[in-house]
Amino acid sequence: MINKLKLIKSAINAQKKAICPYSNYNVGASLLTNNGEILIGFNIESKAYPTTLCAERVAIFSALTQGYSKFEALAVVTKDGAAPCGSCRQIIAEYAGDIPILIAKPNEDYIETNTFKLLPQPFI
Ligand code: THU
Repeated sequence: MINKLKLIKSAINAQKKAICPYSNYNVGASLLTNNGEILIGFNIESKAYPTTLCAERVAIFSALTQGYSKFEALAVVTKDGAAPCGSCRQIIAEYAGDIPILIAKPNEDYIETNTFKLLPQPFI
């Protein structure tokens, strides 16, 4: 059973910690692992702008480095409820597969979609 609200709250907390001095666009992500743990990510920006990394990929890469490799759901929070970018969709598809994705706002409003709706015919 996925506790959607818990996952969203965790992404909201992560969003507050984003390191985004150039865009001031905070993004928080939280990943539910197959053993019920929640791991977070937030966007980390660089002075050399393109080397910035999105919250979703920080969450997934951080999880992989910690030895987690099976994921049940992902929540993403932005101020306006934006969907993950194309690069993140690729990494989600490759490393998490077709999981539920909760796209939320800081007030906990969300829509639910999934990986293959966001990235049909993935290169995986
Ligand atoms: N960003 C994310 O963290 N996730 C996305 O899916 C799209 C964009 C970040 C990158 C950058 O720090 C800021 O949002 C503005 O583009």
